[in-house]
Amino acid sequence: MPSTPHIAIIGVTGAVGQEFLRVLDQRDFPIGRLTLLASARSAGKKATFRDQSYTIEQLTEDSFKNVDLALFSAGGSISRKFAPIASDAGATVVDNSSAFRQTDGVPLIVPEVNADAMNGISLGKGGIIANPNCSTIIMLVPVTPLHRAAGVERMVVSTYQAASGAGQAAMLELEQQTREVLDDQPPTCEVFDRQYAFNLFSHNSDIGDDGYNTEETKMVRETHKIWGDPNVGITATCVRVPVMRAHAESINLQLNSPLTADEARDILAAAPGVGIIDDRPNNRFPTPLDASGQDDVLVGRLRNDVSRGDDGRGIDMFVCGDQLLKGAALNAVQIAEKLL
Ligand SMILES: NC(=O)c1ccc[n+]([C@@H]2O[C@H](COP(=O)([O-])OP(=O)(O)OC[C@H]3O[C@@H](n4cnc5c(N)ncnc54)[C@H](OP(=O)(O)O)[C@@H]3O)[C@@H](O)[C@H]2O)c1
Repeated sequence: MPSTPHIAIIGVTGAVGQEFLRVLDQRDFPIGRLTLLASARSAGKKATFRDQSYTIEQLTEDSFKNVDLALFSAGGSISRKFAPIASDAGATVVDNSSAFRQTDGVPLIVPEVNADAMNGISLGKGGIIANPNCSTIIMLVPVTPLHRAAGVERMVVSTYQAASGAGQAAMLELEQQTREVLDDQPPTCEVFDRQYAFNLFSHNSDIGDDGYNTEETKMVRETHKIWGDPNVGITATCVRVPVMRAHAESINLQLNSPLTADEARDILAAAPGVGIIDDRPNNRFPTPLDASGQDDVLVGRLRNDVSRGDDGRGIDMFVCGDQLLKGAALNAVQIAEKLL
């Protein structure tokens, strides 16, 4: 593997793809050659990276010659078709879609949590690594240190998910609808099938026979895979809120051993990838605006669950994380850094 790998970004014009460019630059990721790929709609458009202009190319089966690292963020169907082609051509794939997250032999990685699970994969030697769902990553960065300290027996999470989680078009729709509603115009509903501005609704993913939507099921199944423990109890309620960027989550933990909120705060203060905003006197806790553009997942409202028994095994907290960064591009680049 060359010390300056050839990197391809698939879906570079999208919400996550644009963050890939920023994160690779900010983190001084070594790059020998860069190939920018998107659909035929974007072929020929220009993008700038480190003061150099690049022409975006259409993704084809021949796009991966001599590519060492392929960062995919163009949706599940594109990944399903092209990630194996990239891997067979020798590129190591880090995939942001859900296509391979539950595939046996494909590691599902949050570097702070389970980097060991990708041992044996080397840059430029093929292989697929999956990036977890953004809500799962934002939950597990702060919950895993507490899990290691006191063991999570059961977790109840409710999400407040931003427009950016549904891509560039959803962000534009929220902006347009906000203007339209303020102007007394009917809102344009193309990405979502109902008014989003000044509203909120259950996550727009498919609902299964059990009543859980796919986003909720992903949070459960992905946590089981990442922690390597299918017995942890997890239930999720995922909601789309009219916030432009960064997801929030309310998390209640029932633990195996006693843990106080103060002890949890101390553990989280030392945890990688976690920032704390927990200012009770001033009622200042994490917000999506605080988290936007930040690498860390922000944690606050740490408190002893008032409903917990005398055994002291319940903790409540509220977290916010930029799901385009830690929930997608940053996590994927951190995975790639482990391969260097
Ligand atoms: N948004 C998030 O917070 C987030 C978080 C975690 C994971 N993800 C995952 O990341 C992926 C991208 O999400 P996004 O939010 O960035 O979506 P997006 O803003 O809608 O961007 C989609 C990207 O895919 C490209 N694309 C579409 N069809 C293509 C084709 N046939 N061939 C090549 N490229 C094609 C688009 O290129 P054109 O511009 O040419 O159409 C665009 O670059 C999805 O799998 C999503 O589930 C997203």
